[in-house]
Amino acid sequence: MRVLVTGGAGYIGSHTLVELMGQGHEVCVVDSYANGSPEALARVQTLSNGTLEAHEADIRDTDRLTTIARAFAPEAVVHFAGLKAVGESQRQPVEYYDVNITGTLSLLRAMEAAGCPRVIFSSSATVYGEPVYLPYDEAHPTAPTSVYGQTKRMAEQILTDWAAARPEAAVMLLRYFNPVGAHPSGRIGEDPQGVPDNLMPYLAQVATGQRPYLQIWGDDYPTPDGTGIRDYIHVVDLARAHVAALDRAAAVTGAEVYNIGTGRGSSVREMLDAFSRAVGRDLPAQVMPRRPGDIAEMQADATKAATQLRWKAELDVGDMVASIWTWQSANPKGYRT
Ligand SMILES: NC(=O)c1ccc[n+]([C@@H]2O[C@H](COP(=O)([O-])OP(=O)(O)OC[C@H]3O[C@@H](n4cnc5c(N)ncnc54)[C@H](O)[C@@H]3O)[C@@H](O)[C@H]2O)c1
Repeated sequence: MRVLVTGGAGYIGSHTLVELMGQGHEVCVVDSYANGSPEALARVQTLSNGTLEAHEADIRDTDRLTTIARAFAPEAVVHFAGLKAVGESQRQPVEYYDVNITGTLSLLRAMEAAGCPRVIFSSSATVYGEPVYLPYDEAHPTAPTSVYGQTKRMAEQILTDWAAARPEAAVMLLRYFNPVGAHPSGRIGEDPQGVPDNLMPYLAQVATGQRPYLQIWGDDYPTPDGTGIRDYIHVVDLARAHVAALDRAAAVTGAEVYNIGTGRGSSVREMLDAFSRAVGRDLPAQVMPRRPGDIAEMQADATKAATQLRWKAELDVGDMVASIWTWQSANPKGYRT
C-alpha cells in the first residue's frame, strides 16, 4: 500500500517505517522534526535497504499537507505526529490541543482532498484514567486525567465521527500501553530531549552514567513489591501491530479500537532488576514520594487485537532491556552522536 506516515521521524514512527518497508509498503513521511530526527530516517533507509520520501512540514499547515497528500496519493495514513508528555501537557494545554486536535483535523482535510479513506491512529491507554477494573479492555470507561489523555480521547472521537460520515472510511484507533525498547540492531531507538519523562529512557541514562540514580516514584503502592506496575510493550511488537492494523483497514470499514499491550505487567523494581542484569551490575536507585496523578497498576487486555488483528506481542522484558542497552551504548547521546 502507499502509506503516508505523520511523525515518522519519531520513536515509534521510525520503528514502524522499518516494518512497513519490510512488508513492501511504499512510505512517505511528514514530520516537523519538533521531536524527531532526519538522521532516524536515514538509518531507517539503511536498515530497510530502501528509499523513502520525506517532507519537513507541520501537520497543522493544511495547504502544505494537502499538496503532499495529493502528490503521493496515499491509500492509508498512519498518524503518529503529536505531542506526548503528560506533565508538559498540563503546563501547555493550548499547544497540546493545537498540535493534537488541530493537527488531526488538518490531516483529515488533506486526506479528504487526496481521497484517502484509511487512517491508523496512535492513541494511548491514558484515555482510560483510573481503573474501574483491571485489566483494561476496550469497553472500559474513558476518563483521562491529563490534558494529553484528553487530546487522545477527543482525537479518537473526531476520527470515529469522520468514519461514521464516510461509508468507505476505515479508522483503527490503537491504544498503546507503555512502549519501550529499540530495534535489535541498535541503529534506531528512543531519543528523548532533556530529562526523560519515562522509566526506561531514564534508566538507560543511569546505565551510561548520564544520571546518578533512578528515582522510584513511590514504593508504597498496593502491588507485590510496592512499586508501580505497567504493561511494557516492545516497540518492534508495537510497530508490527500497525502493519496488522493496516491489513485490517484494507478489509473493513468503520472505526475500531484496539488495546496494544502484552497483557502482562512488570513493576518498576522488576524493570530495574532486568536492566541491571543486562548491564551486568546493580544500577543505583532512590525511592522518592509518589508523583501526583500516578496510578498503581495498568495492564491491557489485548485479546481483541489477537482475535481481530491476528497480532500478539512476541518479545519479552529481556528483549526490551537488551535492545535498549544495545541502542544506548552505541548512541549515548541519541542521534546527536
Ligand atoms: N511513546 C509513548 O509512550 C506513547 C504512548 C502512547 C501513545 N503514544 C503516541 O504515539 C505517537 C508517537 O509517539 P512517539 O513516542 O514516537 O513520539 P515522538 O515525539 O518520538 O514522535 C512524534 C513525531 O511527531 C513529530 N511532530 C510533532 N509535532 C508535529 C507537527 N505539528 N507536525 C509534524 N510533525 C510533528 C515529531 O517531530 C516526532 O518526530 C504520539 O502521537 C504519541 O502521543 C506514544
